[in-house]
Amino acid sequence: MTLDTKKALIVGASGLVGSELLQILLEGDRYSEVVAFVRSPLSITHHKLKEVTVDFDKLVDYQNEMDVQDVYCCLGTTIKKAQSQENMFKIDVQYPLTLAKLAKEKGMEHFILVSAMKANSKSKFFYTRIKGELEEHLKALSLPALSIVQPSLLLGEREEFRFGEKVADWAFKSLAWMLKDSTKAKWGIEAKTVASAMYGIAQLKAQGTNVYSAQDMASIAKKVQVSI
Ligand SMILES: NC(=O)c1ccc[n+]([C@@H]2O[C@H](COP(=O)([O-])OP(=O)(O)OC[C@H]3O[C@@H](n4cnc5c(N)ncnc54)[C@H](OP(=O)(O)O)[C@@H]3O)[C@@H](O)[C@H]2O)c1
Repeated sequence: MTLDTKKALIVGASGLVGSELLQILLEGDRYSEVVAFVRSPLSITHHKLKEVTVDFDKLVDYQNEMDVQDVYCCLGTTIKKAQSQENMFKIDVQYPLTLAKLAKEKGMEHFILVSAMKANSKSKFFYTRIKGELEEHLKALSLPALSIVQPSLLLGEREEFRFGEKVADWAFKSLAWMLKDSTKAKWGIEAKTVASAMYGIAQLKAQGTNVYSAQDMASIAKKVQVSI
């Protein structure tokens, strides 16, 4: 298959990482079509973009739209928005897992997930524990290729105000001058860098599971060129 006939699917395209990634997927020359599963319309139009408004509780109904080579998953929520651990688990774990299973059945070649630093199914913290659980469930699916990126604090402009992230962002920016370039990403990474790295990682002839730290992403993103 030539590069320009490949198709990608993205979920979470309205989010901080997802919106950066969607732009790269559309501007790059790797895909002829980019399918975005959304809850409400994105405010962009592009000849390669196929927006599909879906009910994430019924992903199976949209399996015909999953006939793609690469799936990019940037879904996620916060406990404040989800309002319960059960709801957060559904969004952060069940939706990505269901999507991966259904896309595998349709012949997907590569699943690229935004997880989080310190994801660990045995963690005592709910957030890192569910991220770890998702990673383990995905590994158990034996996908042709699974790439997991584990960002540190995401940096970038959000419309929504998140107090904790704002404080961490401020602290990171105040102290960044003291950090060596090689360790900066461990503390904070631009959403755009994560998105570029995901695009770069999808290009690798990956097999099995590969996990990328924020520092790995920073170095991969430097080499990624989006040809328009
Ligand atoms: N924030 C950090 O510092 C940080 C650090 C490490 C890892 N992460 C992880 O990185 C990933 C991406 O983070 P982000 O900050 O880019 O995310 P974000 O800006 O919060 O965007 C989340 C995306 O998920 C979608 N979503 C949320 N609830 C949904 C639902 N019920 N049904 C369907 N879609 C839903 C949103 O769509 P709508 O527009 O429809 O709501 C949006 O597109 C997340 O998994 C996050 O946990 C975050």
